[in-house]
Amino acid sequence: MRIAIASDHVGLELKPLISAYVEELGHEVSDYGPQSTERTDYPKYGKVVAEAVVQGEADAGILICGTGVGISISANKVKGIRAVVCSEPYTAQLSKQHNNTNVLAFGSRVIGSELAKMIVKSWLEAEFEGGRHGDRVAMIADIEAHYLC
Ligand code: RB5
Repeated sequence: MRIAIASDHVGLELKPLISAYVEELGHEVSDYGPQSTERTDYPKYGKVVAEAVVQGEADAGILICGTGVGISISANKVKGIRAVVCSEPYTAQLSKQHNNTNVLAFGSRVIGSELAKMIVKSWLEAEFEGGRHGDRVAMIADIEAHYLC
């Protein structure tokens, strides 16, 4: 898969480790920044990765900030994005199987690099199950269509 990755300044240190790991797993990674440790704003990076996913430049996205919260909320404001913030692999796996998440977020102040890798692997390897879960994801899209123009 083609994976778009970004962080804010807090998640910056973890970003190259995760990018290298995603490549090791056989995926192609595009880094949407930032490239320097200068203080920045997580909404910019949540948005840019979300846009890469909905516009088809990437198949899925990975976002890292301090907690994963701000950057995932930002990504979720883009129509078509289902971003999940995870601190353990089980939620990551289920979020793909049941909710067909297309963006994974986590916090560099919350988890270490090895746990982050386990989360990433679980998420990338899981597959959406469809069926009744597809009906529910369609219901989410209905809410989105109503409120996001
Ligand atoms: C930046 O200080 C911090 O707020 C950010 O990395 C993130 O944790 C926001 O949700």
